[in-house]
Amino acid sequence: MKKLTDLKVRFVGAGNMASSLIGGLLNRGFLPSQITASDPGGHQRKLLTEKFGVQTFNDNNSHFGIPDVVILAVKPQIMKIVALDIARSIAETNALVISIAAGIKIEHLEKWLSPESSIVRTMPNTPALIGEGATGLFANKNVSKEQKHLTEGIMDSVGISHWVDDEFKIDVVTALSGSGPAYFFLFMEYMQKTAIELGLSPEVAAKLTEQTALGSAILAQRSSDDITVLREKVTSPNGTTEAALKSFNNGNFEKIIKNALKAANNRSKQLSDDFS
Ligand SMILES: NC(=O)c1ccc[n+]([C@@H]2O[C@H](COP(=O)([O-])OP(=O)(O)OC[C@H]3O[C@@H](n4cnc5c(N)ncnc54)[C@H](OP(=O)(O)O)[C@@H]3O)[C@@H](O)[C@H]2O)c1
Repeated sequence: MKKLTDLKVRFVGAGNMASSLIGGLLNRGFLPSQITASDPGGHQRKLLTEKFGVQTFNDNNSHFGIPDVVILAVKPQIMKIVALDIARSIAETNALVISIAAGIKIEHLEKWLSPESSIVRTMPNTPALIGEGATGLFANKNVSKEQKHLTEGIMDSVGISHWVDDEFKIDVVTALSGSGPAYFFLFMEYMQKTAIELGLSPEVAAKLTEQTALGSAILAQRSSDDITVLREKVTSPNGTTEAALKSFNNGNFEKIIKNALKAANNRSKQLSDDFS
C-alpha cells in the first residue's frame, strides 16, 4: 500500500481551502515537490509558491503528470467547467479525485469526469483553515480501501474526518458541521453582547466567551461523560445555570435548534439540485 508521504497530489484551485490542506500536508511530512497546484489567479499561485514552495500553474492540465490524488478545490459554481476541462488528464492517470466543493453530487462528477473515476465527495468546514476542521466523506463505488485510507490521511491533516455510507448524509453533515461554526459564533455573539450590557468591558466579554466555548468543547472531547451529563454537572438545583436553562427551555430552545438544522439540511439539498 502506498504511504501518504509517497503520494503525488495535484490541487485544482489554489484558494483558502487548498492553502490550508497544503499547509496540513506539509506539517504531516509531505515534501513541497510532491504537490502541484493550478489556478488562473496569479496572486493565489504566488502565495502558494512563496509560503510553501510548491509548483503552480495557470492551466489546469499543465504539468499534470501522474498524480495519485487530484483535489478539486474550486467554487461549486465553476466545478462543471473545471471537471470537464480536466476529465481527460484524470482518465489518463487513474487518479483518485477528492472534491471539497459544497453541494456537488457524485453522480454529476461521474458524468463530467467518467463513471469509472474513483471519486470522494467531502464536506469540510471553516475551522479546517486552522487545522481544526470536521469533514464528512462519501466515496463512490470505484474507491478502493487503500484510497479511502489515503483520503482520511489527507483530510485529517486539517482536523478530523468521518465516512458516511449514503450520500444524502452529506447534507446532514452540511447542516451539522458545515454550517455549525456559524451557529456557535451566533451563540457566542449573543453571550458576548449580553455580558457587555450587564457591565463587562467588550475585551473581557470577548475573551471569557471565547475561552468558555473552547474549554467546553475540549472538555466534551476529553471527558468520558457525554454532553448531557456534563451539562447536568454544571447545573446545581436552584442555581444560576438552572435559571438560565429554564429561560432557554421557556423559549423552546430545542425546537429552535431542530428547525435551524432542518432548514440547513433542506437548503443543502436544494443547492445540490441547483448546481446540477
Ligand atoms: N472555506 C471553507 O472553509 C470551506 C468549507 C467547506 C467547503 N468549502 C469548499 O471548498 C471549495 C473552495 O473554497 P475556498 O474557500 O478555498 O474558495 P477560494 O478561496 O475562492 O478558492 C477557489 C480558487 O479556485 C480558483 N479558480 C477559479 N476558477 C478556476 C479554474 N477554472 N481552475 C482552477 N482554479 C480556479 C479561484 O481563483 P479566483 O479567486 O481568481 O477566481 C480561487 O483561487 C469550495 O467549493 C467550497 O464550497 C470550503
